[in-house]
Amino acid sequence: MAEILALGISHYPPLSGHDDRMATILRRMLQNPDLPAHLRTPEGWPEGMRAEWGEDEGLSAAAKHRAALVGWMERTRAALDAFRPDFVLLWGDDQYENFREDIIPPYCIAAHEKFTFSPRADNVWGETDRVYELPGNRTAAKMLATGLIEQGFDAAYAYKPLHHPLGHAFTNAIFYLDYQRKGFDYPIVPFAVNCYGRKVVSQRGGVPAFDKAESDVEFDPPAPAPWRLFDLGAATARILAESPYRVALLASSGWSHAFLTAKHHYLYPDRTADRRMYEHLRDGDYDVWRQYPAQAVEDSGQQEILNWLCLVGALSALERKPQETGFVDTWIFNSSKAFLIAPPG
Ligand SMILES: [Fe+2]
Repeated sequence: MAEILALGISHYPPLSGHDDRMATILRRMLQNPDLPAHLRTPEGWPEGMRAEWGEDEGLSAAAKHRAALVGWMERTRAALDAFRPDFVLLWGDDQYENFREDIIPPYCIAAHEKFTFSPRADNVWGETDRVYELPGNRTAAKMLATGLIEQGFDAAYAYKPLHHPLGHAFTNAIFYLDYQRKGFDYPIVPFAVNCYGRKVVSQRGGVPAFDKAESDVEFDPPAPAPWRLFDLGAATARILAESPYRVALLASSGWSHAFLTAKHHYLYPDRTADRRMYEHLRDGDYDVWRQYPAQAVEDSGQQEILNWLCLVGALSALERKPQETGFVDTWIFNSSKAFLIAPPG
């Protein structure tokens, strides 16, 4: 009989590196030639940001950030192991990795037979030749694509990778759920969402190039609307709830990103907007999520929260509130990170 476990984590890339590089994105943003003079040194930063940077350029804050994130990864992994899913469906963004100029699907289900990938060089595990080889679940992925298409969601699907074995939203989720390196062999069904929208090709789904003014950038068409992704997640949950599978649904992403938040000169994330969305999620106010405007997502640099819109749509369809949630707040480590565990009743 079908059962669904709902989970949400972050895939923050610097977590796979060492503490002295945890603030690497902030250091990059400090190179912005248009950064106002008063923000170029900690003296001009907001008080909380200065405090987190401290006397050691964020090194002790990095250890605390890591401990908070790893603690949540372990709790999430324990929930996954207790549930023992047939496969894990991951909603994650593709940041100009697998999808590039030749095709940007609004969302795409990876119905691959298997996935092969490795952690980046100079990683915190000291691994130089580690290879993860995980099975997919083509039958389930095709069943899901069929169900979505029949319900009017014209889902793209793929049987093999295009430009990249597997984007970091998916691989980092596995590396972090396996942070203690005890192994991870659940089959996976990656479900890529075009979160970066207007910045997916124009900014290569990454940090601004700072080689021209934002007004001179030729932006791409937008990401799918938040309400549509909410409905997509809801339909996904309903289809899987009627299936023969035990499925873990997992959203993989941080929320507001400093490097996407123009109103903060790309220096720190919109923690206030994230906190507000977190409280609505924790309290089960899912309608607020469905009604969240696309413009608000972009203004707050929350492009990646679109992955979580799928998850929240699923929770709404399942009429389920989270059992545990966590919010890891930061000024200097690029993005707010949220966590969620919602097991079946
Ligand atoms: Fe990402």
